Amino acid sequence: MLYSTHESGGEAGGEMALERLVGSTEREEDRAVETSLRPRKLDEYIGQDRVKENLRIVIEAARARGESLDHVLLYGPPGLGKTTLAQILAIEMGVSLRITSGPAIERAGDLVSLLTNLKTGDVLFIDEIHRLARQVEEVLYSAMEDYAVDIIIGKGPAARSMRIGLPRFTLVGATTRLALLTSPLRDRFGIIHRLDFYDERAMLEIMRRSAKILNVATDEDGAHELARRARGTPRVANRLLKRVRDYAQVRAGGFIDGDVAREALARLEIDQLGLDETDRRVLSAIVEKFEGGPVGIATLAAATNEEVDAIMDVYEPYLIQLGFLQRTPRGRVATRLAYEHLGKPYAASAVARAAAQLTFLDPDGDDE
Ligand code: ADE
Repeated sequence: MLYSTHESGGEAGGEMALERLVGSTEREEDRAVETSLRPRKLDEYIGQDRVKENLRIVIEAARARGESLDHVLLYGPPGLGKTTLAQILAIEMGVSLRITSGPAIERAGDLVSLLTNLKTGDVLFIDEIHRLARQVEEVLYSAMEDYAVDIIIGKGPAARSMRIGLPRFTLVGATTRLALLTSPLRDRFGIIHRLDFYDERAMLEIMRRSAKILNVATDEDGAHELARRARGTPRVANRLLKRVRDYAQVRAGGFIDGDVAREALARLEIDQLGLDETDRRVLSAIVEKFEGGPVGIATLAAATNEEVDAIMDVYEPYLIQLGFLQRTPRGRVATRLAYEHLGKPYAASAVARAAAQLTFLDPDGDDE
């Protein structure tokens, strides 16, 4: 049985990101479609081969021993399939899944009641686990390690602590920001995996699979065009497919060939690489307002009217992946490739050149 207490309504990004077609933040309309498109077995899951193979082994081993799975931490940009993998783990282990998120668990008592309602082996999925309140997180430590929670009964001098045992459950935590996790929490996960952007071959396969499930007719060129512009993110791929399907239905007899895909995506202002107006605005700001950078993240957020979290979680990872943006100890720098993409002559400032040089000399220097 699947049931959900997911109420947070949003990963980092807030209202602004909700408007974006290529944003990887989950939106209400995605949920129903995503449910039908979500692979339910590891064999149906496309891409992330390394993660998949590792999970296959731990699942098989735990099942053979008749034990519950070790706690799993999944991290990486939004929209890459962390919730999907949690669901697959539960299905493959033959247990129930309970879904919640860090900000949705407001008090320690909320977590205790979630935990005490689990059955042996159940998977508890906590999205945005880096946003758990401190008192809530502390309850999680003993729950994860000792399968027990300590609760205080009564008030004042009569108050006493009581330990409640929990079933052996599996916590699957997900975060877009590994660095924001405290080390006591991180250390309690036995299995930690990073999800990367999907390569073009995997994206094409995901696009074909989704088109088949949604009954959308495409040719190779059309499917390629959509896959290429979905920024390595299945959630974006599925969203683009739905929008282009609408266009094809109204303007092209329902068939998505390359020309239809290109025309529909051009209307949506999504360029060849999948960048939308916001991505270009972030890049242009660095280039035009800050002479190519380096510019601090807070300044960049203010200059683009975006939130720092949205830039860090949603926009920046893909721009970095494309090689358009660099993180340096002194701030973000636009690269030559970014200038070329924007059609601007490359003119790195002396400061940017120095920053790039610094990154070159210090391989670890790109982490703020
Ligand atoms: N839909 C969303 N993510 C997927 C994946 N990794 N494999 C198959 N279908 C998907």
